Amino acid sequence: MTQDNPRAASDWLGLRGRVCVVTGAGSGIGAETARELARAGASVAVLDRNDTAAAEVASGIQRDGGRAISVCADIGEPDSVFAAAKRVEAELGPCRVLVNNAAIRHREPLMEIPLDAWNHVLSVNLTGALVCTKAFAAQMIAAGDGGSLIHVASLIAHFPQGGSGPYCASKAAMITLSRTLTIELAAHRIRSNVVSPGQIRTPASEVVYRDPALAAARERAVPSGRAGVPADLANTIAFLASDRSDYINAQEIVVDGGIGCTLMEANKRPPHMR
Ligand SMILES: NC(=O)c1ccc[n+]([C@@H]2O[C@H](COP(=O)([O-])OP(=O)(O)OC[C@H]3O[C@@H](n4cnc5c(N)ncnc54)[C@H](O)[C@@H]3O)[C@@H](O)[C@H]2O)c1
Repeated sequence: MTQDNPRAASDWLGLRGRVCVVTGAGSGIGAETARELARAGASVAVLDRNDTAAAEVASGIQRDGGRAISVCADIGEPDSVFAAAKRVEAELGPCRVLVNNAAIRHREPLMEIPLDAWNHVLSVNLTGALVCTKAFAAQMIAAGDGGSLIHVASLIAHFPQGGSGPYCASKAAMITLSRTLTIELAAHRIRSNVVSPGQIRTPASEVVYRDPALAAARERAVPSGRAGVPADLANTIAFLASDRSDYINAQEIVVDGGIGCTLMEANKRPPHMR
């Protein structure tokens, strides 16, 4: 793997041997993040509630010469998370980097959504991120070597879409969760940052890109001229995981190809004002 990858060869990130846990790593952004961290030499726990998907990602990493284990856990079930944390520590060592990436979505307008559906989304996306932090940051604190928490929120935290209320609210709350963790864990040299994807092509979003005309229109709307891919996020997360980003703390990095700044362009103006 080192020969194939110039970044790993130069060890620019300095992640070699560092224990990284990525939740929701059986698919999309989480899977690519697990692969990218492994390419940088990290020991990666591929955590997902989908056992088969996690095992496939972990064995792909192993085949490429990287170090990974798959861990089946549901972040919405605290017992399952704490059991996963024990296993990771026993098999890889104490966690130094946690990527809170797993999330679910429920589509229903807020006036109609049953409260248990609302609570379920928040219990996975928001409380699940807190539970994972409790389980894995405890290992960082005990090891006394610092650490990095990276929470995957969304552009939608700032620009909500109708019909996804609990998802939008959970992502917005995640940003404040992260900033609070920065304050509370500072004494342990644990940093906490957020990465907010824009429109990224993953299995979760592929349905939106099935119609070629719609896909092209969506890509044209992005200043960078394309939809995002999981590697765009994986590269950012690997940087935040590493000591290269040591002075970046309590921040949100929006990885959206610039679409978030196009709001005022979207509203029509008279031709002479263009
Ligand atoms: N794809 C996008 O355009 C986009 C945009 C903004 C934010 N995001 C965020 O990025 C993250 C990853 O999104 P993706 O598109 O790669 O999604 P995805 O659906 O491809 O992958 C999500 C993974 O999380 C796992 N998961 C779901 N619930 C879980 C639970 N309770 N416990 C453990 N694992 C669980 C799933 O099994 C799946 O493998 C999510 O937090 C999502 O909200 C994605």
